[in-house]
Amino acid sequence: MRKTWKRKRGPPLPPHSQRHLPGAAAALNRSRRVELSESLRSLTLLSALLVLASCTAPEVSRASPDIRLGHQLTTHGGAVACADRLAATIGAQLLARGGNAVDAAVGTALALAVTWPSAGNLGGGGVMIIAMADGTQVTVDARETAPAAFHEDAFLDEGGNYVPSRATDPWLCIGVPGSVAGLALAHERFGTLPWHELVAPAIRLAHQGFERGEMFHRILSSSATALAAIPSSREVFLNPDGSVPATGTLLKQPALARTLEQLAENGPEAFYRGPLAKALAADIQENGGLLTYEDLASYRAVFRPPLTLEIAGTEILAMPPPSSGGVAIGQILGQLERHGALDGDPGSAEFLHLYAESARRAYAERARWLGDPGYVEVPTAWLLAPETIDDLAASIDPTRATASTSIGPPITALRRTPDKKQTTHLSVIDGDGNAVSFTTTLEATYGSKAVSARTGVLLNNELRDFNRIPGQSTESGHIGTAANLAAPGKRPLTSMSPIIVLEDNEVVLVTGSPGGRTIINTVCQIFLGFVGRRLSLSDAVAAPRVHHQWFPDQLVFEPGFPRPAVREELINRGHTVVNREDTPPAGGALGSAHSVSRNRLTGIVTAVGDPRRDGWSATDS
Ligand code: DON
Repeated sequence: MRKTWKRKRGPPLPPHSQRHLPGAAAALNRSRRVELSESLRSLTLLSALLVLASCTAPEVSRASPDIRLGHQLTTHGGAVACADRLAATIGAQLLARGGNAVDAAVGTALALAVTWPSAGNLGGGGVMIIAMADGTQVTVDARETAPAAFHEDAFLDEGGNYVPSRATDPWLCIGVPGSVAGLALAHERFGTLPWHELVAPAIRLAHQGFERGEMFHRILSSSATALAAIPSSREVFLNPDGSVPATGTLLKQPALARTLEQLAENGPEAFYRGPLAKALAADIQENGGLLTYEDLASYRAVFRPPLTLEIAGTEILAMPPPSSGGVAIGQILGQLERHGALDGDPGSAEFLHLYAESARRAYAERARWLGDPGYVEVPTAWLLAPETIDDLAASIDPTRATASTSIGPPITALRRTPDKKQTTHLSVIDGDGNAVSFTTTLEATYGSKAVSARTGVLLNNELRDFNRIPGQSTESGHIGTAANLAAPGKRPLTSMSPIIVLEDNEVVLVTGSPGGRTIINTVCQIFLGFVGRRLSLSDAVAAPRVHHQWFPDQLVFEPGFPRPAVREELINRGHTVVNREDTPPAGGALGSAHSVSRNRLTGIVTAVGDPRRDGWSATDS
């Protein structure tokens, strides 16, 4: 079944410059209410459990004399929130040593490459937003690129048929890793501590090892079969018989430690040129992969200006393409703003209907237009233009769901099953008001599952983020539009959506999340909770989440959300309502948004590790 795109008007191409959305007339009250009553309004079973979990979580403790660690904490100093307690501690220690938010973010990210290998990485990519207190605002695009030998038909056989096993081949979908270049670029421009001091804690953790925690164990267990099939990966993460070592067992990574030592001594050059790069390329090619030494040597991370979205009197700094985050967030929140729904009750059918319709439209636009701006004309300015968002908002029927088949690019009825994924986000604000929002990924959980034996680096399978079948978009959510087809050197479109929110030029919120396409909705809903409804940060993070991504045409809820009567009403309005699939390790949770906020009146910084995946925060004061 093929449908055509309804909107007649196209974007005036090319300009893909930064775009500002009109703001609300009045700025919201900036102070944050922390009363539980505010959030109880919308709490359902899941969020009640999450709040309970955070109340019964261990008290904030001292990880070392100058560091406090907890699932959530407040401070007058700087703070880091991320997936792992050791990495959070390292970030805070770097702050304590006089490092700024960029130093802390880089050191935390490098530590996560050791302690959180399901998503933290040297062998993957990421996108970062930096807002310095002096007003400097940039993004770092450290997204992987396609090797020179990777083309748009890489997933097809000679007859043009899709070959699913190519998307699951551990060595074929490895993009040129961008994380090391991106972290080094951020440090080179903004860091204050020497580079080797940021790498040193990760080296120590890789050498000496660390005890695997409960969440680590659960995530590893979910990927053990695939890891066990690759000898170099089994050797690092599993017992010799392929079973999963018990919680509390030490994980040492000597080969990774040696790689990190070379990085500490010689900087990113060591990773992209010279013996280390040759070893990495050799490991990949000997296993049938495409990535070459030349691919590594030609990789560049780049600074890009952030998109600045003016919503509800705030400025949201967001990622431009090749991230779909900024455009989609701007369109979703822009539509809700036009419907007066930024402070809508998230437990009501009225709000959830408007949210679903706004997201449906934004994701349809994403599918149609977005890709690597170095390769395709991405009409970013048009997509965020007030008239475009007016049109989108005006096309929403307040009483009936729009069928996804009636909007967006043409689709076919082909269905395929989604893959399991992992990514991780970290947020930092330092004592001077500098902020970093960094999301990083290997794509799937433990990426390609392939560890390069010579370097100890676990590699991504990010090339699966390209549209896999040219011309074929499916009702199961696979997209075949031209904008995101693979090409040599091209960056696959990402949903990673770190944001930094400012009020009167001061940072008030740093957030982001894993979750593939769900990331965009998670980030929007944290903004809506924190800015729109003025919840405390912990309540905004804990609030139950909903997801719609155009296709599959489903409104996906976290468990226990929403109330049965509201669910019924949404079904009556034409929505297909489903629960988020309850798969390990995070049950039916959507995202994991480790976030930091700063109250402009009191100067108090709050850091919250998302309880959905046992997140952590640490401070130097
Ligand atoms: O870049 C992307 O959009 C995906 N590779 C991210 C995957 C992801 O977030 C999985 N997380 N749970």
